[in-house]
Amino acid sequence: MSIMREFLRRPRLTGAVAPSSPSLAQAMTSGLGLDRAEVVVELGPGTGAITGAILRQLAPGARLVAVELNRVFTGRLADRYRDSAVEVVEGSAEDLATLVPYPVDVIVSGLPWTVMPHERQRRILDAAAGVLGPSGRFSTFAYVHTAWTPPARRFAAELAARFATVERSRVVWPNVPPAYVHRAALPLHERPPATAFANTLTAPP
Ligand SMILES: C[S@@+](CC[C@H](N)C(=O)[O-])C[C@H]1O[C@@H](n2cnc3c(N)ncnc32)[C@H](O)[C@@H]1O
Repeated sequence: MSIMREFLRRPRLTGAVAPSSPSLAQAMTSGLGLDRAEVVVELGPGTGAITGAILRQLAPGARLVAVELNRVFTGRLADRYRDSAVEVVEGSAEDLATLVPYPVDVIVSGLPWTVMPHERQRRILDAAAGVLGPSGRFSTFAYVHTAWTPPARRFAAELAARFATVERSRVVWPNVPPAYVHRAALPLHERPPATAFANTLTAPP
């Protein structure tokens, strides 16, 4: 079982031909305060390329809930991370509020945003912003070659509409294909008075 095989079977669900590299996993999980988090959610963990990087940063007692739609991957993840802090949940990120009904500190998403319909992007982002607590952090990646496509631009706008700050990383070249990371903080529904954030709001290009 591999990402490539699942891509050939379900290209629009899988959205990748290879697992994320260690460099991308590092970029996806840095600057999120994972060492202070109590509840972390990973969306679309696939074969677990980013899961390990999250786990290594968690404090004892913290929980990682990995929400994956493809049963082939959930089976493999459950085996790979047996006896760890990971709870593998088979389901869709759209149903996050039902699957994870408590405040979440950090969401790390490997979902294939640019190959999913706009409406689904919106539903998942609504659900993600809805479960994040007051200091919530969110990270996700996009492939460089898709950066200027309409779905990627729509996604960036949807992200900026829901979070108080959105940053974009440098390109992570050691990945197939090269990618960059969006890191977002504090869902807007928890946003403090505007003055506190007036100088830090950055919109992705
Ligand atoms: C681009 S792969 C990323 C895999 C892994 N995170 C990595 O970086 O190597 C996208 C993953 O998202 C999963 N996925 C797609 N839509 C989903 C949804 N609505 N809910 C949960 N998982 C989903 C796919 O099955 C696949 O495992």
